[in-house]
Amino acid sequence: MAFSYMPGFGNDFETETLPGSLPQGRNSPQRPAYGLYAEQLSGSPFTAPRGTNERSWLYRIRPSVKHTGRFKGASYPLWKTGPNIGDHELALGQYRWNPVPMPSGPTDFISGMRTMTTAGDAIGQSGMAAHVYVANRSMVDDHFFDADGELLVVPQVGALRFVTEMGVIELRPGEIAVLPRGLVFKVELADKEARGYVCENYGAKFTMPDRGPIGANCLANPRDFKTPCAWFEEKETPCRLIVKWCGTFHVTELGHSPLDVVAWHGNYAPYKYDLATFSPVGAILFDHPDPSIFTVLTAPSGEEGTANVDFVIFPPRWLVAENTFRPPWYHRNIMSEFMGLIHGQYDAKEEGFVPGGISLHNQMLAHGPDASGFEKATGADLKPVKLDNTMAFMFETRFPQMLTRYAAELDTLQENYVDCWADLKKRFNGTPEGDWS
Ligand SMILES: [Fe+2]
Repeated sequence: MAFSYMPGFGNDFETETLPGSLPQGRNSPQRPAYGLYAEQLSGSPFTAPRGTNERSWLYRIRPSVKHTGRFKGASYPLWKTGPNIGDHELALGQYRWNPVPMPSGPTDFISGMRTMTTAGDAIGQSGMAAHVYVANRSMVDDHFFDADGELLVVPQVGALRFVTEMGVIELRPGEIAVLPRGLVFKVELADKEARGYVCENYGAKFTMPDRGPIGANCLANPRDFKTPCAWFEEKETPCRLIVKWCGTFHVTELGHSPLDVVAWHGNYAPYKYDLATFSPVGAILFDHPDPSIFTVLTAPSGEEGTANVDFVIFPPRWLVAENTFRPPWYHRNIMSEFMGLIHGQYDAKEEGFVPGGISLHNQMLAHGPDASGFEKATGADLKPVKLDNTMAFMFETRFPQMLTRYAAELDTLQENYVDCWADLKKRFNGTPEGDWS
């Protein structure tokens, strides 16, 4: 079955699966067509300014009060929520991991969530968590919503199908999806195994960055974001709904599927985006801009220019700058940087940072190209070069990222990561030429 999508970012969408199921000219008719219930899902306070006011109207077989009952506690011990401080003994450092191993027992998208870092405070609605998910089975009768934040999903292995109450998103590595806070969904695997990264954004929603003097085009373009058309199922068999709420998990039993929205309209909705449609902009003579030039989505913090989280990619691109050290420079950063690699090779680290791997460069901790990368870049013949076969990304947050015990004790933590800078030589010898031997 092919699922369809509507293009645009933050549009006021409308979609119906049955003719006439979407009321026209009003939101809440006395008796909605098909005997549906009308329900509003708010993504912002009612009184938020027009530019950030988000809500959708859902027309469904049963209202959501029928999709919850009495809750019981549920346990997902590897999914942590900020603040989560001091649950391990690992000292401060720059860290890098090989991929999180695939699970051996049956694991779905929710039970396969492994939190690597948390930042800020979910209850204060600021900060984020960086997770890796690993899964080998579909959710069939289980459904989930996250009240603590929206989920930005970055698949690395295996295609997924997000069956949500507002429609179906099919997602493969190279694409990303964003699932709004509170949206009910389940995740099916299209392949045998799946792994990827998730940013759980506790703060204001991701939006598109302003482009300033770049103008009206390039970077991510609104039409390349795709929101699913309505889809529903009428399934009258036992189901469960799992809820993440202020870092705790709860489950409720249902006699039917909660994915029963026949029609909806509004601007609070899930979407996907193909990273190959990002049009990178960069230096065309010398130097290079800050990596913020590669921001796909930004979640503001309330302080201008200071993101709660930026989602940044490092896509294939041409390097043409003259008399320039072309890889990313050495730096220390007030923002903290969680990086992953979807496929290929990252230009500042040709070895050791593998697809599915992770690096973490926390607030004010120095980093930059490894010794061999520096040697290559300073000795290179600066012809135009295409960086190909690469797609790295970064969750960059204004908050320091706290490692979880899981991350600190993970077998794939590279003990020798900091040694990648050990062979950087002293080049200063008191002469203007320096020692480039
Ligand atoms: Fe950095």
